[in-house]
Formats: sequence, structure tokens, C-alpha cells
Amino acid sequence: MKIITSVKSLRHTIDKFKGSGKTIGFVPTMGFLHEGHASLLRQSGRDVDVTVLSIFVNPLQFGPAEDLKNYPRDIKKDELLAKKENVDIIFYPSVDEIYPTGFLTHVYVDDLSDRLCGKSRPGHFGGVATVVLKLVNMVDPDVMYLGQKDAQQAVIVRKMLQDLNVPVKVKILPTVREADGLAMSSRNSYLSLRERREAIVLYKALNQAKTLIKNGERTAKTIVLGMAKMIQEESQGIIDYIQCVNAQNLSVIDVLKNEVLIVLAVKFGRARLIDNIIVRVNE
Ligand code: PAF
Repeated sequence: MKIITSVKSLRHTIDKFKGSGKTIGFVPTMGFLHEGHASLLRQSGRDVDVTVLSIFVNPLQFGPAEDLKNYPRDIKKDELLAKKENVDIIFYPSVDEIYPTGFLTHVYVDDLSDRLCGKSRPGHFGGVATVVLKLVNMVDPDVMYLGQKDAQQAVIVRKMLQDLNVPVKVKILPTVREADGLAMSSRNSYLSLRERREAIVLYKALNQAKTLIKNGERTAKTIVLGMAKMIQEESQGIIDYIQCVNAQNLSVIDVLKNEVLIVLAVKFGRARLIDNIIVRVNE
């Protein structure tokens, strides 16, 4: 496993692999890796010849009052996980390597970036789209792997790559959960013991929604109110949003049909947690 910090050396190494006909899989991350990331790396290992993992805490996607400085980092632990998952290259650049002095260009996916998390995190998805395009241009992968937990990010990245004619296949893999249902996230490390106990209500609320839909409920408002009630009764979490949206374009749905993405963001102390499920609605 090679650890590369410069774009020049990354390109050189990847060119050599490509020259010998190897296919490249790419897993972009901000590090502090967990089983969710491992599942992406494993899939890449099954699909392609060479797996590239990037670890870069991207300042552009953090708001001024957000947790950039305190975002959890543990490169040594990440290296061990990467080795275990047969990663070939870790790309671990500095901020200056990605955003050299004089950097001026940004990518913004209109509309999709302003919904859901975009409302309380203005600029966040512009930062994500910009860094993902840059990383994809650097790694030039055949396939890129993202997690369904960040559903809005996945929709935005797909759209950006499609709109800008970037020829990379994107695979979105299922959310990996703790045994009690909490979606794995690097930010779970911020939770106190009480918050961690209470945070299981998020998946419980999503499942309650699924059951309601299975039993015939089709009004989004009823489902959302039921979820909010459960979260408020069973935790001190502060709800940012709960919504039923179209899984492809994130538009708000009032009456459920076809494929519905149920998304939520709830703050538990320092941790702003997001989660979602996709439900197929039988007419
Ligand atoms: O999901 C993440 O970890 C980040 O948003 C990503 C895609 C690596 C871009 O910084």
C-alpha cells in the first residue's frame, strides 16, 4: 500500500497502473474510517484492479461555525483499516496541495444543493461538489463509491458528474449500521453516552415510517409528524428536518408514490446526525 501526498506523484502512479490495463476504483473520504467506509473499499476490491482511498478533511465544505478544527482524525488507525481492506493507494494531501494559493474555481449544483442539509449548511454542497470533481480529475477512476447515508451528497455528486460529462461510474452502497441501528458516521464519536443511547430513535423513526407506509398511509405530513413525535418523546435531539422527497431529484413529496426517500437531520449535542431510508410504495 502506497501513501501519496502530492497530485503529481498520484498521477504518475495511476498512469502506470492504467498503462498496464488496470481498472481503478476510488473511495473519497474525510478519514476517521469505520465499517461504512470499509464496505465501500471492499466493493471496490471486488470490482476493479486498483483501489484508491482519499483522506482529506475538506475545509471548503465546512461553514465558519462548524467543526472543521475538531473533526475527528486518526491517520494511523485509518492506515490499518486501509491495509486490512487491501487498499493500493492512500491519497493523503495537504490543504495547500488541493487548494494552492490563488485557487478561485468552485462548482455548485443549483437547486439540489439548497434543499435539506443545504438550508442549514449553506455552501456545504458547493464545497463537496468542488472537492469531489477535483479528486476525480486527479484519480481518474473507472468507478467511484459513495454511501447511501449521505443521500443528498450522492444525488448531487451524480448530477454534477453527469452535467459536466465526467465519465466515471458511481456506485452508491447501502448504509452500514451499528447493531442497534444507528447509521455509522465519523461524527458519532461526538455523542455522549446519553446522546448515543437516544440516537437510536432515528432509525426507529424511519422504521416506523416504513411500517405506516406498508399499512397504507400515503400522506407525507402524517408520516413526518409521527416521526417527529417519536424523536421528541424519546430523545432530547433537536430536529433540523424530516422530509419525504423524490429519491432522484429531492423534490418534496406530499402524497407518497413510487420510490420515496425519507430523510432526516437531528442534532444531538455537538453531533448533527443524518439518516434516511428508501421506501418503495405499492400503489
Ligand atoms: O462524504 C464525505 O466524507 C465527504 O463529503 C467527501 C465525499 C469525501 C468529500 O469531501
